[in-house]
Amino acid sequence: MDSTRNDLHSILPFFPLILRSSAVLWLPAAEEALMLLSKGSIHSNINSGKLFAIAIADLRNSLEFPSLHPSTSLGFASFFDHLMSKDEAGKWFGEIVPRLADLLLRLPALLETHYQNAGIFNGMETGLKLLESQQSGIVFLSQELIAALLVCAFFCLFPTINRGAKHLPRINFDNLFMYLHERYSVNQEHKIKCIIHYFERICSDMPMGNVSFERKVLPLENNTSNIVYPETHFWSKSPVSLCHLEAHTSGLIEDHSTEALEVDFANKNIGGGALKKGCVQEEIRFMINPELIVSSVFLPTMADNEAIEIVVTERYSNYTGYASSFRFSGDNVDKKSIDEMGRRRTRKIAMDALSRIGKKQYKLEYLLRETNKAFCGFIDQTKAQQYQTLFEENNISSKEYSDSDGEIGVVTGNWGCGSFGGDPEVKTIIQWLAASQALRPFVIYYTFNLEGLQKLERVVQWILSRNWTVGELWNILVDYSTKRLKGETKLGLFNWLIPSLHNDNNPITLDMPCAT
Ligand SMILES: *[C@@H]1O[C@H](CO)[C@@H](O)[C@H](O)[C@H]1NC(C)=O
Ligand SMILES: *[C@@H]1O[C@H](CO)[C@@H](O)[C@H](O)[C@H]1NC(C)=O
Ligand SMILES: *[C@@H]1O[C@H](CO)[C@@H](O)[C@H](O)[C@H]1NC(C)=O
Ligand SMILES: *[C@@H]1O[C@H](CO)[C@@H](O)[C@H](O)[C@H]1NC(C)=O
Ligand SMILES: *[C@@H]1O[C@H](CO)[C@@H](O)[C@H](O)[C@H]1NC(C)=O
Ligand SMILES: *[C@@H]1O[C@H](CO)[C@@H](O)[C@H](O)[C@H]1NC(C)=O
Repeated sequence: MDSTRNDLHSILPFFPLILRSSAVLWLPAAEEALMLLSKGSIHSNINSGKLFAIAIADLRNSLEFPSLHPSTSLGFASFFDHLMSKDEAGKWFGEIVPRLADLLLRLPALLETHYQNAGIFNGMETGLKLLESQQSGIVFLSQELIAALLVCAFFCLFPTINRGAKHLPRINFDNLFMYLHERYSVNQEHKIKCIIHYFERICSDMPMGNVSFERKVLPLENNTSNIVYPETHFWSKSPVSLCHLEAHTSGLIEDHSTEALEVDFANKNIGGGALKKGCVQEEIRFMINPELIVSSVFLPTMADNEAIEIVVTERYSNYTGYASSFRFSGDNVDKKSIDEMGRRRTRKIAMDALSRIGKKQYKLEYLLRETNKAFCGFIDQTKAQQYQTLFEENNISSKEYSDSDGEIGVVTGNWGCGSFGGDPEVKTIIQWLAASQALRPFVIYYTFNLEGLQKLERVVQWILSRNWTVGELWNILVDYSTKRLKGETKLGLFNWLIPSLHNDNNPITLDMPCAT
């Protein structure tokens, strides 16, 4: 098909491959070097981290790429020669590296097969291409092709020269190792352990499923076939009823077992600091589900009206801790079931909250931005027609909205509330409004035991007992935020809303006048 040929042409400048008489190929010098690596350490002599770094430098040289930072080579040496046990390193260089090189040699063939199989899904072509800003689109990749692309990144073989102009995030793994050397930390070592574990797993048993990556857009202009980026009056007049919200003080989003939209507290550049030294929610996800990393190959920075949906990558590693206490804790076998497209039945929604805007988060324009961002993540644009019809009838309740997707709720937590500095009480309400408006049947909210959210369950019951619509709750949120911004209240949203919450022992009286 011509269109898939176009997709291939558009993506090639970001790949270390060339096109000769319509065949995708490695440059001969690179192919030769990879062939030697694939024959094993007896032939290649590559049996240590130090020599591996030299092999990578040679490969990059054969592609005429600039040298890597010297600390990167030292990082490879320190990981494989000092941090890894001798036995493990023996297996790594004797068995794993040759297989990875072999997989990389097959990258051109895997790409050809990929474009031959590419089809149409929900009216969108599924071939690999840049999913550029303001264009909704989807890419379906086999787990085997993803594995080959990740080996390419691990060997630092993606050209970086064209990426900046397209706002593409970092993809090569060189900085992971550079930081390991320059600012050694145990959690950085354990991030790399997760990646190494992934490569060991795919070498012993290549997964054969598929993963889709979708750029979701709420168009800014009038658009008849899609739901557009809402204005404030859309929210303030919304007649939609609030969905069910269940608060959990313990538990983790990624351990949730039924099909749901799991929120990735993303950076606007997907993956955030995963390939540098970051180690919070999004970055941990990227380490335990390394297939997520491949999104950096073709997904440029997200704009305010965009989110990314990934259905879904496999989880390979278990872990404990968070940030500096993060540790790889062994294998994880993903038991999530597979859909008819070969994708695991969990969806990850990457949506970036506003970062470090302080008190400005209470301004109307930023409340709108955050609510719309979450709405973009939670809405299903393929149901736009159905959705708009419901709206015209002005008669909507998520409880009554039932179809095949009706069971898929949202699983989330303190989105944008860590280093991004968001107000967790406000962010909870924002996500609840967005999920309700997107007609999701429920939100499961993990509070991570955050103090401000201790009363969340009671607050939710209180709000639900008032039968407020999305519009009414939005107006109350705006009212509070305005007062907070002007310094007319210093209370948190929940205490402002329900004064009796102040005194923990008081049962909430359901007939309290509301605080507006
Ligand atoms: C969008 O549509 C409305 C009503 O159809 C119209 O009044 C408005 O001018 C349009 N806006 C743009 C930017 O086209
Ligand atoms: C509506 O928006 C979608 C997604 O951005 C775009 O693909 C489509 O061409 C737009 N349609 C119209 C009529 O503007
Ligand atoms: C990994 O963690 C999951 C979920 O916590 C657990 O069920 C599983 O047993 C762990 N896997 C191993 C191999 O310990
Ligand atoms: C993955 O998608 C391809 C088409 O792109 C299809 O042929 C294959 O059956 C799918 N794999 C699974 C496990 O469903
Ligand atoms: C509104 O919803 C109710 C309950 O689902 C239904 O009985 C009624 O016919 C609907 N009204 C309109 C105008 O669609
Ligand atoms: C909320 O709705 C329920 C069921 O429709 C009703 O029984 C209850 O009285 C309503 N509560 C308020 C405060 O309006």
